[in-house]
Amino acid sequence: MLSNIPKKGKVLDIGCGTGLLLTRYARTGGQAVGIDVSSGMISKACEKVPEGHFLVGTGESLPFGDNSFDAVTSVLTFSYVNNPGKMLSEVIRVVKPGGRVVICTLSRTIFTSGLPAVYQLGELMRIRKIGVGNFNERYYTAEEMISLFRDAGFSDISTRKCSFAHVGMIDPLFTLARRIEPFVEERLPYLAYNICTSGRRPSH
Ligand SMILES: C[S@@+](CC[C@H](N)C(=O)[O-])C[C@H]1O[C@@H](n2cnc3c(N)ncnc32)[C@H](O)[C@@H]1O
Repeated sequence: MLSNIPKKGKVLDIGCGTGLLLTRYARTGGQAVGIDVSSGMISKACEKVPEGHFLVGTGESLPFGDNSFDAVTSVLTFSYVNNPGKMLSEVIRVVKPGGRVVICTLSRTIFTSGLPAVYQLGELMRIRKIGVGNFNERYYTAEEMISLFRDAGFSDISTRKCSFAHVGMIDPLFTLARRIEPFVEERLPYLAYNICTSGRRPSH
C-alpha cells in the first residue's frame, strides 16, 4: 500500500485503528491523518504517532474540506462500512485531483465464505470479545470493488489479491509472510483472503 502513495504527502487513513500504517508512513516524512469510529483506537494511535493528527468519525462522512489529501488509504475497514458507495464518494471529494486511493479489504473466497458460520458459533459461545462474533462483515469480489470505484468516479483502477503480510506482524513473521505471499497469490488464490484496490481521482 505504501509503495502506491506519494512518500512525503498528506495521507488520510480511514479506519486507522492503532495507527499501524500511519506509523510507517510518518517515518517516511509524510503527514499522517487518521480517522476511526473507535475512540479507544484513536487514543492508542495518538500515543503511537504523536506527530499525526487523529479524530473519531466514520469514513462515510469525512470532516475535511474538498481536495485536502494527496492520497487516501484504508486497511481492513471497508468490510465494516455500512454504505461503501457513500464512503467512496467522500473519499473522492477529499482527495486532490490526480491523488491516489488504496483500499485493502476482505475478499470473497472459499476461505471467507466459511467465516459467517464460524462467527455464528462464536456468538453462541459468547467469545465475540476475542474477535469471533457476528460483526456484519462483508466480503467483496474484484468485480464489485472495480464497479464501486468506477461508480464513485475513479480512474486507473486496479486490484490485486493479498494475503498474510499485515503491518501489525513483527519480524521475522512479516518478512516470512511477504516471501510466501507471491506463491499463495499465484498458486492458491483462494487462500489470499484480502483484496487491494487502487484508483486515481481524475485530474480534470
Ligand atoms: C480490523 S481493524 C483495522 C485497523 C487498522 N486499519 C489496521 O490495519 O490495523 C478495523 C477498524 O475499522 C474501524 N471502523 C469500522 N467501521 C468504520 C467506519 N465506518 N469508519 C471508520 N472506521 C471504522 C474499527 O474501529 C477498527 O479500528
